[in-house]
Amino acid sequence: MMYAAIMGYGTIGSGVAEILENCRERIARSAGQEIVLKYVLDLREFPDSPVADRIVHDFQQIEEDEQVTLVVETMGGLEPAYPFVKACLNAGKHVVTSNKALVAAHGTELLQIARDKKVNFFFEASVGGGIPIIRTLYRCLAGEGIQEITGILNGTTNYILTKMDREGASFEDALKEAQDLGYAERNPEADVEGYDTCRKIAILTAMMTGREVDYEDIYTEGITRITDMDFRYAKKMGMSVKLLGISRIRNGEVYARVAPVMIGKEHPLYAVSGVYNGILVKSDMLGTSMYYGSGAGKLPTASAVVADLIEAAQNAQTNIPLGWGEERQTIAASKSGESCYFIRIAGNTDEKAARIKEAFGEVQIFVLENMDEFAILTKRMNETEFMKQAIALDSEYQKMGEEGLRQVIRAESEG
Ligand code: HSE
Repeated sequence: MMYAAIMGYGTIGSGVAEILENCRERIARSAGQEIVLKYVLDLREFPDSPVADRIVHDFQQIEEDEQVTLVVETMGGLEPAYPFVKACLNAGKHVVTSNKALVAAHGTELLQIARDKKVNFFFEASVGGGIPIIRTLYRCLAGEGIQEITGILNGTTNYILTKMDREGASFEDALKEAQDLGYAERNPEADVEGYDTCRKIAILTAMMTGREVDYEDIYTEGITRITDMDFRYAKKMGMSVKLLGISRIRNGEVYARVAPVMIGKEHPLYAVSGVYNGILVKSDMLGTSMYYGSGAGKLPTASAVVADLIEAAQNAQTNIPLGWGEERQTIAASKSGESCYFIRIAGNTDEKAARIKEAFGEVQIFVLENMDEFAILTKRMNETEFMKQAIALDSEYQKMGEEGLRQVIRAESEG
């Protein structure tokens, strides 16, 4: 029998308690022993909950109880999650977390302590909610050289973009609906500005490269600039806009970024809609594989936490190497990457086509009826070269007293 504690009785923590209770026998069979929930740490009381008799308010009670060897951290944020998790690992307890902010900021150090103490620090639920992607990377794809991970990693923004795509909603209306339905986290900024996706792709990049990744090195752009007009063109082009976290190894360099990207129907992530997440992995033997499912929510996320608890229980005396070491991974500047680009330009094509061809080469042109603008899709270009041309064109238009470029969105022409 192993004793567990949950720190943070919010949505995910209460889901973990529920699964531990409702699936006790199945978990015991998988883990090889029973997992008994001894404490639930929270500032609040939950007198009517099934864990009312196990609520504690003092972290030291967990830290100092040698019987407790499994600790779940579902508080979120860095304070006090970071010192609490560190103390638990130092006390020789296995820790399982759903907290991407914690893993992205302190994963390297916490994994090192876990190695030293011969315990485990698992974080399957920190990326893709219930989708098994972390274990897939360190176990199922252990023999693979991974070259690329591209993911729709945030359910809230995917819900908003799907609503804009399918119903022609504005960004503001779609965000409000996501908030009303409870998808958006307390601060929608973390989702819509891409910060949540940034931390998740940083974790996946560390798993891919085996090195520490500073999420602040990753260029991050959110979806607040995306408009219903962009989706009208996207529809005409057979494309959609998705917020993608992308990490690629090319010629020994690692490129990572978070940005809205136009993708076509042939792209495997095109069909990932609503609050779902999808993660595309390209590796040298298997080729392309994709992982799809609920990226958030109480029981899906708690399910990933419980799977980690079971793995920790199965390996109570052993540290499982996740392949994430201490060496720092350099992330190449975003401007050295390549992309196609979608641009919306005021005016009509007849007057502007020649100059556009001079700037970007052959482009595809798209026109919507009764609009005072048109759109172009460039071929694949180096980002520095594209930006140089786009900035020059924009300032030329403005010098002529005209409106500059109305929109620029990266586009991927293949999966
Ligand atoms: N805010 C996150 C999302 C929750 O919408 O995907 C899961 O990390």
